[in-house]
Amino acid sequence: MITFIVKGNRARTAPDFLLKDLPGSGGRIDILCRCLTSSLLLSHGIRKDVQVILCLGGEPDPPKCIRVMGDNVKHLSPDERSTAILLMKALESYRKGEEVESTPGIYISGHSFKEILEQYRERIVLLDEGGDELGSMPVEEPCFVLGDHLGFDEAEEKLLSTVKHRMRVSPLVLHGSHCIVLVLNRMDMIKERGNTERKTNR
Ligand SMILES: C[S@@+](CC[C@H](N)C(=O)[O-])C[C@H]1O[C@@H](n2cnc3c(N)ncnc32)[C@H](O)[C@@H]1O
Repeated sequence: MITFIVKGNRARTAPDFLLKDLPGSGGRIDILCRCLTSSLLLSHGIRKDVQVILCLGGEPDPPKCIRVMGDNVKHLSPDERSTAILLMKALESYRKGEEVESTPGIYISGHSFKEILEQYRERIVLLDEGGDELGSMPVEEPCFVLGDHLGFDEAEEKLLSTVKHRMRVSPLVLHGSHCIVLVLNRMDMIKERGNTERKTNR
């Protein structure tokens, strides 16, 4: 299982944002929508071995954590509007103290970004343009962490300063969703090469 954790610093934590103004009223929730579809959607299918964890830190009731599982998510389409509707339904379903499944494969809880990082600590690969070049995968079942347009705050940077793996996908600063596509491309190529080598060694 490959995991992507994306921080939405100001992503709205109530289901009251406007679908026609996701960046403004949703606190750049459009970024989270693009990261979600980039992580899970193939041209005609879903990546069943990927899960995405969106950490919403905006008003009025942070934190919220929306987890989407590729192996059972339903109704996910490439357009931002329908993806935002799924996130809105998740926010409507929120119950204090428990993780709730809002629609198939989509779960919401009140976990904070810090709690999520602690949960996945051993497998974290921080995506950072200042890191080492992403070649082979440094851990089994990697858990990639990335920020939104605002990156991470001071306390989070401090927490992340101790992670073992900090990798870059380009020398340039890219959009988070583009980084995800490059990471998955890298993993697909590594997997294909492994399969070819196994076949030729038979
Ligand atoms: C739009 S960038 C953030 C820019 C923001 N102004 C900042 O200073 O952090 C969103 C996220 O994508 C990831 N990212 C951007 N460029 C990258 C690169 N070349 N290699 C790896 N990760 C990158 C980082 O995790 C970053 O937090």
